[in-house]
Amino acid sequence: MSDVMTVGIDQMAVYVPPFKLEMGDLASARGVDPKKFELGIGQDEMAVAPLTQDTVAMGLNAAIQLFDRADKVDQQRLDAISLVIFASETGVDHSKAGAVFLTDILPIKQGVRSFEVKQACYGGTAGLQLATSYVHQHPEETVLVVASDNAKYGLKSGGEPTQGAGAVAMLISQDPRIAKVSDVSAYHTADVADFWRPTDQEYPLVDGPLSKKAYLDFFNDTFTSFLGLTHQTIADFTAICCHVPYTKLGAKALAPYLDDCDDETAKRLSHYYQQAVSYNRMVGNIYTGSLYLSLFSLLAHEPNLAPDSEIGMFSYGSGAVGEFFSLYLSKGYGQEIQKHRFAEQLTARKTLTIDEYETLFEEKIPTKARDFLVADDHHDPSEYQLKAINNGHRVYSNPKNR
Ligand code: HMG
Repeated sequence: MSDVMTVGIDQMAVYVPPFKLEMGDLASARGVDPKKFELGIGQDEMAVAPLTQDTVAMGLNAAIQLFDRADKVDQQRLDAISLVIFASETGVDHSKAGAVFLTDILPIKQGVRSFEVKQACYGGTAGLQLATSYVHQHPEETVLVVASDNAKYGLKSGGEPTQGAGAVAMLISQDPRIAKVSDVSAYHTADVADFWRPTDQEYPLVDGPLSKKAYLDFFNDTFTSFLGLTHQTIADFTAICCHVPYTKLGAKALAPYLDDCDDETAKRLSHYYQQAVSYNRMVGNIYTGSLYLSLFSLLAHEPNLAPDSEIGMFSYGSGAVGEFFSLYLSKGYGQEIQKHRFAEQLTARKTLTIDEYETLFEEKIPTKARDFLVADDHHDPSEYQLKAINNGHRVYSNPKNR
């Protein structure tokens, strides 16, 4: 292994389900001032997943884009996948990893390792960091990390305006074409009862005010540790991306630091933060993938940042674990991001009425169902879909029989 080897995100793709709800419609239906959702929370739209899109199906639909749009270099790197990590807190099985389904259905070579990681929204970062270390140890191999979640708090619940659904797929390799992962990282764990979901609960238990406080405390803790470890100041970052349960919270975390720095830095970080949460405003919280959706949003909106620009990354998972690390952009990353045409996916979504949203929200696979056919009542156009439960086993469509 060479000292100069760089490891990081080589490719990224995002999938969101084909339905959304306008936050203004939700506000009217719930008798709330729409400004609360638009400005107070900072959300415009919320992605809504039909029953055909469980977290495995969404993960498949994110990951397949890496294979479909592969050039020669992509294909070599996809052929070198030897580990698949699935990050989720809304997975489909207490025992079997979502990664096993992905490994079986996607065109990945035989004989790979697969597993699932969980720690609330921190899971995506756990996957990325594990994958980075793995590639440092196995430089000729690559890792597929898929973060997929369906964030549901319940109709008329306090958390309802912060729901969302979607998946992010990342290929981790040496000589990454999107961004190198920093060697230094600051992290912190503490047992906090802010948000959790016992195994018998359909929806999470949430202490909203405590969750906001814990997020801000973990930001302060890990960010100041990172600056101490690296002897840097906030001015060294071109942009800072945060985990986005809703877009206002990351802005609140950054605000005191922007008040304290020079005008040019404050203006730059604040502008890039808004670019970075532009997609999150239209999707909502996707838990494990939220930070990476935000990174994707920044890179898609700003495809020409200078090579080696440093992007701060704050990951937070309730319960709680936080980590601050950074990425260094690769030359030409903009082309890699833009080939996935994510904006087209967003605009192709169907807007649900509040009645349609509530109907779709309440559609569930019967508990303890051993056999169940999942009807595609909403005409889901996505390639991969959950089709049935057969003797307790989930069956997905594979129309191109890959
Ligand atoms: P709430 O009680 O509906 O709202 O809960 P609020 O009273 O806290 O108001 C929200 C903001 O809107 C406030 O601003 C109000 O002032 C403002 P802030 O004080 O925060 O700056 N507001 C208005 N602004 C303009 N015009 C108006 C107006 N009215 C009020 N008319 C809460 C909101 C987010 C707590 C709730 O939706 C919730 O519990 N969501 C789920 C938990 C959550 O997202 N927590 C975030 C941190 S935890 C985290 O990030 C981890 C997580 O992703 C899970 C994981 O790790 O797996 C959630």
